[in-house]
Amino acid sequence: MKSKHTYILGIESSCDDTAAAVICNGTVLSNVVATQSIHKEFGGVVPELASRAHQQNIVPVVQLALHKANIDKKQLNAIAFTRGPGLMGSLLVGTSFSKSLAMGLEVPLIDVNHMQAHILAHFIKTEEQTAPQFPFLALTISGGHTQIVKVDDYFKMEVIGQSIDDAVGEAFDKTAKILGLSYPGGPLIDKYAQKGNPKAFKFPKPKVGPLDFSFSGLKTSVLYFVEKQVKINPDFISENISDVCASLQFTIVEYLMDKLKNAVKQTGITEVAIGGGVSANSGIRNAMLQAEKELGWKTHIPKFEYCTDNAAMIAIVGELKYKQQLFADNDVVAKARMKL
Ligand code: KG4
Ligand code: ZN
Repeated sequence: MKSKHTYILGIESSCDDTAAAVICNGTVLSNVVATQSIHKEFGGVVPELASRAHQQNIVPVVQLALHKANIDKKQLNAIAFTRGPGLMGSLLVGTSFSKSLAMGLEVPLIDVNHMQAHILAHFIKTEEQTAPQFPFLALTISGGHTQIVKVDDYFKMEVIGQSIDDAVGEAFDKTAKILGLSYPGGPLIDKYAQKGNPKAFKFPKPKVGPLDFSFSGLKTSVLYFVEKQVKINPDFISENISDVCASLQFTIVEYLMDKLKNAVKQTGITEVAIGGGVSANSGIRNAMLQAEKELGWKTHIPKFEYCTDNAAMIAIVGELKYKQQLFADNDVVAKARMKL
């Protein structure tokens, strides 16, 4: 017998995190993430290894999510899973597992767009934050995407600006690699940046359309800069790591905020949210708080556990779709590339 509570299981497997979460009426009951450490030694995600690790992790991760939520799988009302975008081999694991589970339990299957989930994670009920009001602007910043999205309703979103090349997370990770830092480099740059001088070095901010981004030039300029400095002083990196990281982070955050300011000006919308792995960055979080104070925006910054890949964000989209009876057919297929 199902209770009047709606229990949704969310499953995320688009990249290198195997995650499962249970949500009930907007509140997260459990949120389990198994981060795959295997990729560290390769300096980036190895798709075949990611897929194999998902296969090993998915059953225990789902079991733990149900256990922590203190429910039995028979109480689930629906299974929501990440359909895309992401690595095909990784997506296939979550997709086929979710299909079988939904079929076995005879409950609806709900497909979720990973990037929509990074935005709709703001609708998870938390004590710290209120949900954004429509329409709002969302800056989605992750390892695969950098977009400014105008969000008119839960499932009515329009990309109004985006990166023409690398994503901002890639810019963090690739420049970190140049500095000899391990993968993923974003959190490490953030850590060093907090001890450094953001004005020590100057890096260029590429010129593209007012709402668009470009990051590949930044990576090249960091590479040339470091090579030049190391020729002069072989210990340049170790002696200046904090200042280099602080200057890099300062440039990236200022660039992101410049574009957001352009978007606010163009749309007249001052309700602004950030989402995706890079929204865990201390620089962008501080800049958003400052914008709220100085520019009068209403800003929405996700809790840390809902910034990087997680299944709670998949489960909340599942719940929102469940309410609208937006279910997937059982022949739904994973999609490596998927628009908002
Ligand atoms: O959303 P996410 O977990 O996965 C994708 O959907 O891509 O984002 C991962 C990205 C990585 O590039 C990682 O370096 C970056 O988010 N990231 C950070 C921080 N935490 C994670 N970048 C900068 N500062 C951080 N604190
Ligand atoms: Zn993500």
